[in-house]
Amino acid sequence: MSSTPVAVVTGANKGIGFAIVRALCKQFPGDVYLTARDPGRGQEAVAKLQEEGLHPLFHQLDVDDLQSIRALRDFLKEKYGGLNVLVNNAGIAFKVLDTTPFAVQAEVTLKTNFFGTRNVCTELLPLVKPYGRVVNVSSMVSSSALASCSQELQQKFRSDTITEEELVKLMTKFVEDTKKSAHEKEGWPNTAYGVSKIGVTVLSRIQARMLNEKRKGDHILLNACCPGWVRTDMAGPKATKSPDEGAETPVYLALLPADADGPHGQFLSNKTVRSW
Ligand SMILES: NC(=O)c1ccc[n+]([C@@H]2O[C@H](COP(=O)([O-])OP(=O)(O)OC[C@H]3O[C@@H](n4cnc5c(N)ncnc54)[C@H](OP(=O)(O)O)[C@@H]3O)[C@@H](O)[C@H]2O)c1
Repeated sequence: MSSTPVAVVTGANKGIGFAIVRALCKQFPGDVYLTARDPGRGQEAVAKLQEEGLHPLFHQLDVDDLQSIRALRDFLKEKYGGLNVLVNNAGIAFKVLDTTPFAVQAEVTLKTNFFGTRNVCTELLPLVKPYGRVVNVSSMVSSSALASCSQELQQKFRSDTITEEELVKLMTKFVEDTKKSAHEKEGWPNTAYGVSKIGVTVLSRIQARMLNEKRKGDHILLNACCPGWVRTDMAGPKATKSPDEGAETPVYLALLPADADGPHGQFLSNKTVRSW
């Protein structure tokens, strides 16, 4: 088994995930895994970074596919006995003008952004080694969507005692409510992406609390963040940040030094803790 530290980035064949891998290859003292759902796109991305003189490794990972997640888990367990850094970056967003029915958009978006991210965490968090760092890429849109929720939902999502099961029930209810065209009546905002990212931010707060309760002595730091508005296929060419700039906050959180005792369980943008 290798004692080399290991970092894993999800959805890293392009965009912000690719830039996070680039930065980690330069700054992380260990093996960096660029993961992608499509091995062809993933290997192409690895080759691009190799041309820059960097040496990422590749592993397939489709966050929508539990078998794929478990294959990565078993690989990391066997080869490294765990992992040191996990960046949950993979995500999707329908374009504003997309005419796909809202209920379908809700189901598909929640599947990857919330349920996929959660499944990766369920399988990989137990493997994270002491002093490990976990970064869940959320969005400022989670904050604006939260502000558009009913008072009752806002209270639930801001609660310091909400459980992962309760959060999963709420995310499932959102999808069900959209199918009945009842989501607005039920207090939800009209954004599937926004709700999925509320899920990611709240999940991070819960996971950090669980680490405090169950693994306090392990000094693991887990946070959610917004990369900013970044020029990628998702956000388009008018966005203000380059992918490398978008990678800065996630990479800062992934590389928090061993003697840091925070941030932990926070939501950050521009390397600054934001109120939730
Ligand atoms: N760009 C922004 O302004 C912005 C702002 C706030 C937050 N974010 C968040 O930042 C993250 C990265 O976004 P981006 O702008 O870099 O988007 P992007 O260029 O569209 O890249 C998204 C990445 O996620 C991958 N992905 C999608 N579904 C996946 C799945 N089921 N399993 C594994 N990988 C999957 C994509 O792979 P394929 O190539 O195979 O599709 C791609 O590599 C997302 O979580 C996004 O919500 C972005």
